[in-house]
Amino acid sequence: MNAYPGILIVFDGIDGAGKTTQINKIADALRAVGEDVLISKEPTDGQWGQKLRASALSGRMTADEELETFILDRQDHLTNKIIPALEDGKIVFLDRYFYSTIAYQGLRSSDYRSIEAIIRKDTVIPDAAILVDTDPYLAISRIRLRDGKENHFEKLEDLIQIREIFLSLAQDDDLLHVINGSQDIDSIYKDVKSYIIEGALKAKRCFKSYGCDEPLYCGPRITGNCSWWNIVSAINKA
Ligand code: TYD
Repeated sequence: MNAYPGILIVFDGIDGAGKTTQINKIADALRAVGEDVLISKEPTDGQWGQKLRASALSGRMTADEELETFILDRQDHLTNKIIPALEDGKIVFLDRYFYSTIAYQGLRSSDYRSIEAIIRKDTVIPDAAILVDTDPYLAISRIRLRDGKENHFEKLEDLIQIREIFLSLAQDDDLLHVINGSQDIDSIYKDVKSYIIEGALKAKRCFKSYGCDEPLYCGPRITGNCSWWNIVSAINKA
């Protein structure tokens, strides 16, 4: 959790994991009940992100240059977009965050743990981090359906190893929550929705700072003063 009034929820996972579909679904549901939501992604469309995207098509940068460019892209993203939105109280969804840098650039370095500390420095701690964990064979078939081809970042052997790094990160990091991305879209969404509602949303929006422990006799709920409960009721009715 961070100290901003907004809520930062990040999704990570291998290419084709299904992150974007899930982000759009939960963001639409929250917008439909009146929440102010921002969706953003990394790499961004800013100067560093454009450089990275171009390299995915034309030929990769050196490992050091690539790592440095992802870090610059994130700093720019945090300063100019993420932090201002969190200060405004928005719910911010990120399609990839620093876990991707540890996993993807970690694969290119001899030991991902050696670069992990650098990557975690100067980032905003998310309120929730979801690893959409999808079988790489299934992920590749989703990418082929979507794009007709893979790019440099998306080779099957790489995705198998990147998935392993993501899973070992989740074992050591209590914040990174694994959701089975090999299920159908609606089943993944059910898991995503309940995790966000019962976790990050409750932590930041429940009237009682320690979280609701007495649903039946909760005064703020009954009087409509619990912002978390108002969202939950509206979402479940929609
Ligand atoms: P992706 O989410 O696939 O964007 P799009 O579908 O719009 O092309 O991201 C592009 C690639 O960037 C993806 O293969 C993972 C890679 N990547 C890294 O290698 N390191 C990072 O830190 C991030 C954020 C992404």
